Amino acid sequence: MTLKLRRLSNALGAEVCDVDLTQPMSESTFGEIYGAFLQHGILLFRNQNISREQHIEFSRRFGELDDHKSLPRDRHPDYPELLLVTNRPNADGTPSESRYTGRSWHTDMSYTTQPALGSLLRCHNLPEVGGDTLFANMTMAYDALSEGMKKLIADLHGIHLSGTRKINVAEAGEARRNEVMKLNPPIAQPVVRVHPETGRKALYLGEKVKRFESMTEEESKPLIDYLNRHATKPEFVYRQMWRENDLLIWDNRCTLHQALGDFDETQLRHMERTTVLGTPSGYVTAA
Ligand code: SIN
Repeated sequence: MTLKLRRLSNALGAEVCDVDLTQPMSESTFGEIYGAFLQHGILLFRNQNISREQHIEFSRRFGELDDHKSLPRDRHPDYPELLLVTNRPNADGTPSESRYTGRSWHTDMSYTTQPALGSLLRCHNLPEVGGDTLFANMTMAYDALSEGMKKLIADLHGIHLSGTRKINVAEAGEARRNEVMKLNPPIAQPVVRVHPETGRKALYLGEKVKRFESMTEEESKPLIDYLNRHATKPEFVYRQMWRENDLLIWDNRCTLHQALGDFDETQLRHMERTTVLGTPSGYVTAA
């Protein structure tokens, strides 16, 4: 089979138009999908009325899945492979812990030493309007830098901090804060990461990075801010306007993404995500 692809933007992404994920898929069709994933950075499958098991099974074809043990409160109670991104209140009426997940530019699990290869996000429920997600092409952003800037950042490491570290001690207590800090120590990652499959260089930053290794926050901030601003310019970005039953996979090794809060928070937005483990990268460092 030759896949029918439709490009989603100039920067990145393609829609796979003729695949039904409820049906068995041959190795050769999956090989074409994987090739398209490496080429386009994002693949969108529309109208996929799949079960949770089918979501997990398809995701496994991309590699071993994370069981989200570093995010125990956000994972699905019956399916540890599924991470909830939802504003549906908890059974006791308290707000969902994951209602603001992904609201800044980031790449998944960069605050671990085995950052994600890819993530497959399925849209279950959407508000009437909005609830969009932005994606940015970090290979394109790197390529567009001057040779001088490429030299300057070549050996830098950014310190990535998990968003779960930002817990409210007054509400959650000191013990919970310490538990979360222990589960998620700061991780130094190369600012320029070589994609393990395509061999291409990409910026590997985002808003979870507050400083460079061996530099202070004050020293690091201007360059981090510049690189993040540069990388998320409109020409490097695709805006995903979700429809129910969309399944979208992105390559975390060469893209950033951000969930926008561009919707009425009283309306339900419910997404479920699998996370495909990547190759080891980075090391534990001091806060
Ligand atoms: C995420 O960052 O994984 C969630 C993105 C979204 O909800 O749009």
